[in-house]
Amino acid sequence: MTDISAANAALPDVRPANPNFSSGPCAKRPGWTIEALSGALVGRSHRAKPAKARIQRAIDLTRELLEVPDDYLIGIVPASDTGAVEMALWGMLGARGVDMLTWESFGAGWVTDVQKQLKLDDVRVLKAEYGELPDLDQVDFSRDVVFTWNGTTSGVRVPNGDWIPSDREGLTICDATSAAFAQNLDFSKLDVVTFSWQKALGGEAAHGILILSPRAVERLETFTPANRPMPKIFRLTKGGKLMADVFEGATINTVSMICVEDAVDAMEWGQKVGGLKALQARADANAKAISDWVEKTAWVDFLATDPAVRSNTSVCLKIVDPDVTALPDDVQAKLAKAVVSRLDKEAVAYDIGGYRDAPTGFRIWCGSTVETADLEKLTPWLDWAFAQEKKAALAS
Ligand SMILES: Cc1ncc(COP(=O)(O)O)c(C=O)c1O
Repeated sequence: MTDISAANAALPDVRPANPNFSSGPCAKRPGWTIEALSGALVGRSHRAKPAKARIQRAIDLTRELLEVPDDYLIGIVPASDTGAVEMALWGMLGARGVDMLTWESFGAGWVTDVQKQLKLDDVRVLKAEYGELPDLDQVDFSRDVVFTWNGTTSGVRVPNGDWIPSDREGLTICDATSAAFAQNLDFSKLDVVTFSWQKALGGEAAHGILILSPRAVERLETFTPANRPMPKIFRLTKGGKLMADVFEGATINTVSMICVEDAVDAMEWGQKVGGLKALQARADANAKAISDWVEKTAWVDFLATDPAVRSNTSVCLKIVDPDVTALPDDVQAKLAKAVVSRLDKEAVAYDIGGYRDAPTGFRIWCGSTVETADLEKLTPWLDWAFAQEKKAALAS
């Protein structure tokens, strides 16, 4: 263990080439410039033939790159990942009881939707604290199940899809926004998968991606929630039938052709670097760069206690230096903020503060668009900034 004492951390001499380590919107793909958007069909109707073809290209690339089964549908929908998840919750839940899994703030948000807005009466909440997963053996798959594949704000993910039975009766609705492309989604176990482009693709924010299994489509066509208003942007059926053209590029409402172009660019890059396995290997190598540093660094540790469920995208860290953890909570929080702001001022790392509802610490995006060399250059700066701020906190 390297003990970075307050006195001895020297100013590192090499900065990361790209200081964008935010957990969303995330770093653009390596080599991206605004030129990547020069072919965007701006000023054209999104219903025009070439625009629809470009939207279809984005859908086709999603299927190829993410290895989505042929019988699953892929649609571009309004309101980012949140829109896609809420379309599924509003359109599908209520046919049977639902198990809601939550272990950080986004999962907690879906619980609020289901309990306080939809007001469903048969809801079980399986909850764990930041850094842990709920007991997956307790999930009842005769019910619908809603969960987040990767908890972006705690850096805890499900280990795989093995805990989900193939012969489940209920639907599995999976918010995969910070997992898609970087983690191995097991589509055979998932009925609804959602994500947005600005995470692992480093794409532009605006639209959500909604992926439906045949069983999810069946639910939409056989179940109409009683007394539930369904705004136009949530509606996926007309006269009891799926609006199939939504999944063929005829989006519910207007899409940004700039965002579409950017997503196409990011996915073409993903193919060029070697496809899904290569994207996942990039994220794994990135997370390992942080993990190797944590292992030899006494002052910091992962929020996720079990390595088997530790995220390779939103890597969340906490300060464990005993001199610092002995300080009052508000002083620790101030110290962590000061570290973040020092690195921001040095143009070394932007937006690496822990999420506002999460325990005090740092969150460093390690998704596929980040370069491993940049993370390796970042860690000496973390040591340096921590040493400076620890010295200041202990002196005051
Ligand atoms: C797990 C998860 N769910 C939902 C969201 C919200 O995504 P969006 O802003 O695309 O709606 C995020 C954003 O960080 C997320 O990480």
